[in-house]
Amino acid sequence: MNRVTKLLNIPYPIIQGGMGNISNAKLAAAVSEAGGLGTIGCGTMSGEQVERIILQTKDLTSKPFALNIAINVSPHVEQLIDLAIKHDIPVISLSAGNPAPFIPVLHEHGKVVLAIVASVKHALKAEEAGADIVVAEGYEAAGINSPYELTTFTLVPQVAQKVKIPVVAAGGVGDGNGLAAALMLGAEGVQIGTRFIATKEAPFHNSYKEQLLEASGTDAVIIGRSLGRIRRVLNTTYVQEIVEQEKNGVSLQDFGKLTSEKHHVLGAIKGDLRQGFLNSGQVAGLIHDIPSVKELVEDMMKTANNRMKIGATLLALVTQTN
Ligand SMILES: Cc1cc2nc3c(=O)[nH]c(=O)nc-3n(C[C@H](O)[C@H](O)[C@H](O)COP(=O)(O)O)c2cc1C
Repeated sequence: MNRVTKLLNIPYPIIQGGMGNISNAKLAAAVSEAGGLGTIGCGTMSGEQVERIILQTKDLTSKPFALNIAINVSPHVEQLIDLAIKHDIPVISLSAGNPAPFIPVLHEHGKVVLAIVASVKHALKAEEAGADIVVAEGYEAAGINSPYELTTFTLVPQVAQKVKIPVVAAGGVGDGNGLAAALMLGAEGVQIGTRFIATKEAPFHNSYKEQLLEASGTDAVIIGRSLGRIRRVLNTTYVQEIVEQEKNGVSLQDFGKLTSEKHHVLGAIKGDLRQGFLNSGQVAGLIHDIPSVKELVEDMMKTANNRMKIGATLLALVTQTN
């Protein structure tokens, strides 16, 4: 047990990151049942849609799960906070915006609040605002990304040095080696997006999973840098068209339309790769199979434990020779 597993009331320090509009009840429940923390990604969904998924998740698991609210993405933030309170969701993760205004009411109702950050400055601000855990997300992560471009390997130890609250590492973790490395960097858990897409329970189109199996790390590219709207996606034909449009000076408004949730759902759920895009982190190059969530989580824990034992043995050897 560490502070993260205690706060989240879960056996393993593994969080499935919210995936707006597409990470549904089946995936969230499977992760929670496997000993991690599943998350419903609210994205731009209405309160009614999210409420339906909350009820479905509760039918599938009695274990804790989280709701992710992307503050500047969702048009329904207040309604979603009310839903979290009404349905007694124990953990709320707040991303893509300032979490401070929402933390007091969540604490009044006993919620654990995770704040997703990409810099030390924002980690300190989230801590000051009362967040219980900061999730430090590096630039290798899938989906909407920070213009700071700090990688997980550099961001996590810097954040861990500065804040007193527990840190969770996100971005680039795909197996037990990554989990062990994150713990060594000072994190007390990991948040994973991309690797959970290539699992049996993930509700995504098969072509998404197949593309991930085929991808190497360099296939997870950044779009929107010239507009300050950074997103990491697989380099599909549709994405190449967006890159061309960006080169030709596409407006922010048109870029927003091309990368809207409609096109996200078309790619991820409908498998329409001519009109839809697929969020992916650089960890795609590490994905070679489609296990069940339980198999993946158990393998991660076993590998991480072995890695940490090897680390301890090596340290003992070095200490002896000195
Ligand atoms: C398909 C997809 C959608 C995502 N949507 C969101 C979101 O709505 N809100 C959010 O905070 N993070 C979102 N993320 C980021 C994940 O929650 C997680 O932090 C990230 O994927 C971790 O990096 P990794 O992909 O290298 O594992 C998304 C990731 C993916 C793969």
